[in-house]
Amino acid sequence: MMRRPAALLALCAAFVASTQALASELPQRWVSAGGALSEWISELGGQPRLVGVDTTSQHPESLKALPSIGYQRQLSAEGILSLRPDVLVGTEEMGPPPVLAQVRKAGVRVELFSSQAELSAVDQNLKQLGALLGAEGRAAQLMASYHQQLEAVQLQVKQAQQNHKAPGVLLLVGHAGAKPLIAGQGTAGDWVLRQAGARNLAEHQGYKNFSNEALASLDPDVVVFSDRSLSGEQALQALLKENPALAASRAVRDKRLVLLDPTLLVGGLGPRLPTALQALATAFYPASAAK
Ligand code: HEM
Repeated sequence: MMRRPAALLALCAAFVASTQALASELPQRWVSAGGALSEWISELGGQPRLVGVDTTSQHPESLKALPSIGYQRQLSAEGILSLRPDVLVGTEEMGPPPVLAQVRKAGVRVELFSSQAELSAVDQNLKQLGALLGAEGRAAQLMASYHQQLEAVQLQVKQAQQNHKAPGVLLLVGHAGAKPLIAGQGTAGDWVLRQAGARNLAEHQGYKNFSNEALASLDPDVVVFSDRSLSGEQALQALLKENPALAASRAVRDKRLVLLDPTLLVGGLGPRLPTALQALATAFYPASAAK
């Protein structure tokens, strides 16, 4: 009987030692590719572990001070390896594959996350990141709050739709105006449009280039536009100059053009989306917002 507390103590000590050992096995030097993923890492308190990020990792602002590993789809092994990381994290968008193979071969752990545009992917990513950072509790909190925020947007949209028809919308991803890609089914862009209460007029799968004629025939009520290299009025002017068909569309005539930050569409669904969805829903249903 007298031995029991001692045994318990020993057990506790062993447990503490084992969790400490586990913590020290967690990767310490992180390189992250994919804007949304880097944002989640920061939200989970992991920013001090980041030693490098890709060019789409622009939020929070402080990430821009870190060494850059280039664009997530066009990484170079040298750039990554020179930072001596324990782990490279990214989504299916990260590549090219031979570079990832080279990084693995050099002994760096490569952890893949989902860029699928669905809520279950966010849950899974947060769980996986939480475990890798030793921040499981915080990950569970973030997950619950994300679900709540999205439900609030759903409510806003549902109320707006009681009196208004869902607008037909196209989401264009441009590069200084030239040949925009149109967000089709299964993309983060499509998810964003639907969550904010729009009808995505593009029925193809993935992101695709459209001819001027095809664009003109869809005649969207609203155009949402994301440019990789320009912002604000400059981005819109470049888009209209390079895509004359759009100039004749109802969206342009009615001046219903909405700019969207392109970093909201890379590296999976990220933490700033609920706020962006609220703003989009207000743009899609302006009359209901004014009430
Ligand atoms: C801030 C966000 C982004 C930045 C900084 C960025 C940057 C770049 C750069 C530098 C390139 C290679 C050269 C070029 O064609 O211009 C590129 C290619 C590409 N980007 Fe992005 N991009 C961003 C967002 C996006 C988004 C939202 C999409 C979704 C459609 C996207 C899809 C692509 C595709 C499909 C390519 C060609 C890929 C390849 O050839 O491997 N990018 N991007």
